[in-house]
Order: sequence, then structure tokens, then C-alpha cells
Amino acid sequence: MKLWGGRFTGLTDNDVDIFNSSISFDQKMYKADILGSIVHAQMLGKQGIITQEEAQLITEELDNIKNEIESGAVVIDPDSEDIHTFIEGLLTKRIGDAGKRLHTARSRNDQVALDVRLYLCGAITETRDALVNLISVILDIAEANLNTIMPGFTHMQHAQPVTLAHHMNAYAQMFKRDVERLFDCYKRTDVSPLGSGALAGSTYPIDRQFVADTLGMTGGVTLNSMDSVSDRDFVIELASCYSIIMMHLSRFCEELITWSTSEFGFVTMDDGFSTGSSIMPQKKNPDVAELVRGKTGRVYGNLMALLTVMKSLPLAYNKDMQEDKEAIFDSEKTVNMCLKVFAKMLATCNFNKDAMYKAAFEGYLNSTDFADYITKRGVPFRASHKITGELVVYCIEKGINIEDVSLDVFNEFCSGYCTVDEDIYKAITPEACVTGRAHVGGPAPERAQEVIDYMRSWIKERTKE
Ligand code: ARG
Repeated sequence: MKLWGGRFTGLTDNDVDIFNSSISFDQKMYKADILGSIVHAQMLGKQGIITQEEAQLITEELDNIKNEIESGAVVIDPDSEDIHTFIEGLLTKRIGDAGKRLHTARSRNDQVALDVRLYLCGAITETRDALVNLISVILDIAEANLNTIMPGFTHMQHAQPVTLAHHMNAYAQMFKRDVERLFDCYKRTDVSPLGSGALAGSTYPIDRQFVADTLGMTGGVTLNSMDSVSDRDFVIELASCYSIIMMHLSRFCEELITWSTSEFGFVTMDDGFSTGSSIMPQKKNPDVAELVRGKTGRVYGNLMALLTVMKSLPLAYNKDMQEDKEAIFDSEKTVNMCLKVFAKMLATCNFNKDAMYKAAFEGYLNSTDFADYITKRGVPFRASHKITGELVVYCIEKGINIEDVSLDVFNEFCSGYCTVDEDIYKAITPEACVTGRAHVGGPAPERAQEVIDYMRSWIKERTKE
């Protein structure tokens, strides 16, 4: 069955039928398609465009079809052109002429635009929930490690001491922004294009607002019929949200992979989330983290594909747009899977606190704190920096840490600038380096705890909606 056969006398080439068909991937949207059609029929009935009885008949039968698809009693025909054709065809087979009236004042162009929007609203909510779950896992680890000192890095070099809680909280902030981006994207997705027809609207007395309201679309109706059928910004926006989530996940994965090397030894992954080697019996590989890192590539690729499909497309609908679905569905599936597995992997990671603490004594991480100590005694910071730099060279030569230097030697380095007292040794412990940074956003345990508390209440707020 074709929805457009009347104009044609010749048959479509077999390969073109296959090439043109989208049912293999757009059948995913069957629920959205049926829901949109039910509300469209109800609007047609309410407006007297079809009879109320016809509207009722369509509604009931579409509902049956939905249930039967779900139970497996109806199998979606892979030879149909698309999901819209399949459902309308089945409906018409069952209820005759009333089914043929369903497409009054509608085109597949506004129909598919609605379907994709409804479907993606569901996808966004699912991803949001997966992100919130991951944030909760991160906060649990953070809360258990408020005092777990570890080196913080810049340029992958030991920089200053931080805590595992502070490091974890950094990722909680990234994923929080991801949730916010999804909410924002949702607002622009949850808008009804129905009534825009093929491109120029409809001559029937339709009630577009009724459709949007009945579907519960918070953004109301779109305001230009040509834009409505050719806008895929919301798909690109979501693909971009997905890409940013994967970028964040890939950074986290990279760190866990590095931390699980014998050189670092900061983390031991659970057996359930590691794999072995077929030849090297000793190996335990962080495959899950590597695979998530690798899947970032395909999600970026989908974003590029979508941007390129839409590039230079003239108004209004063009068949090119059918290419939007596989890309965004693939990103949706990939990201949700990655978030789920990653959260489970992270929750079972064993962080080796001793190794982290030990590493905090390697690489002169307390240099800044020594410089700050003498600066607070009146030495201009630039001079303090230079003195401390010379002190570090001295320590490297002697093979010792700053805290191993005697008071006399400290005072030699600072002579003419300030005196260094016994309290220096307390000021440059890793603990002091962390607790001394107690401003908002700093690593001090009480500040990290505040952030965790705030994040937990933020989650409560966000998941209420
Ligand atoms: N499968 C099509 C798509 O995804 C549905 C819309 C078809 N519209 C058309 N004018 N051929 O875009």
C-alpha cells in the first residue's frame, strides 16, 4: 500500500522501495505516531471536520493497534514505506472509510515532525534520569571521601593536593550542566508542529492549540508552518547535548583507565566490570571505561551527520530529513547504555586511599603553600614564587621533600625577606593544603560537603518535574 499511488501509473523500482523505506528504524516511534493520530482525530471530530463517531472509532481502533503491537499480536510489516503508512493502512483495513479520513488536514511532514518531537521528549527524560542516577553515585563516593587526600593534576603533572571528594564533585558539576542542557533542549522539543500540513498549513478549521494541550506539550504550538515541517534544530541540539555528555564521560573514563594502571594504582575495578586477556593470564583490563571512551566517537559522528544533513537544505520539507532518525536514535541508545554501565562500574570501583595519599607527597605539591606562607609574612608573591622555586631545586638535588628541610635552611632561602617559624611544618602538610582552601568551590572537606548537600537537594527538585 502506498499513500501516494494515485498520481502514478508505473511501479516503483524494487530497489527504490527499499532505499526509500524508513520502517526499519522509524517503527521505534509507533507509540508517538498513534498518540499523535488519536489526538488529531479527536481534534477533527471536535471541529466537525469528521464526525464524532468517526473520531471515536479511529481512537478506539488505534488504541487496539497500539496494544496489539505491544503484545506482539500485530507485527509491524517491514515492507511498509514507513510507520505512518503501516498504521494508517492497518487502521483503514479494520475500520474502512473512517480510517481514510484520519489524514484530513495532515501531511506526513507535520506528522513525522510531531512523532520525532514526542519520541525525543521521552528519550530526553530517560537520559536525564540516567544522569541523575550517575550524579547520585558520584556524590556517594564524594561523601565517603571528604578527607581522602590525593594529588590534583595540571598538565598531568602533580600540582596541588585535593581530595577524592573534590575530584568527584567536579564531575558532578559537569553532569549537572548536562541535565540542565537537556531540560533546555526539552523546552524547544516539546512544541507541536501539527497543523502545518505539508508546508503551508491547512484550509480546514483546525484547532492546533487543542492538539498541543491534549498532548501536554508545554511549549504550545509552532508559529510558522514552513519552519515547522523543516526544523530539525531540536534533533541537532539533543545530538549536541549527547555529545557533551559523552565528552564528559570520556574524560572520566580516561582518568579511571589511567588510575587503574600499576603506575598509578589509585583504583581497582571490580571483576564484574573488567575483562581479561586471551594470552596474558595476569591481565585485568578496564574494557568498560575504554568502550565508553570509544563510543564517544560515534556520538560525535552522529552530531556531524545531522549538521551536514541539514546544511544548505532549502525550505521546506526535503526527504533528506529522513536521515535524522538513525543518527539520533543511535546516539540515544549509545548514551543511555553508556550512562547505565558507567554508573554501575563507578559504584563498584575500589579507590586505593593509601596509594592516593602517598602520591600526595611526591612532586612538591605543597610548593604553592610554602610560597603562600612566606607571602603572608610580607614577601611579594612573585618573590615568594622565586624563592620557593629555588628551594624546590635544592630539594630535588638532595632528594628530599620541602617538609624535610630544616628551619635554618628555610631561613637562609628567605633571608632579607622574612623569617620562617616552626609552624611552617603544619602549614604545608597535605591536610593543611586542602583545609586551607576553604572558600566556596574549594577542596576543604566542609565546602565539599556543602556542595554534596546542595547537589542532593538539587536532584530532589529536578526529579520532581
Ligand atoms: N519517512 C519520512 C521521514 O522520515 C516521513 C515523511 C515523508 N514525507 C514525504 N513528503 N515523503 O521524513
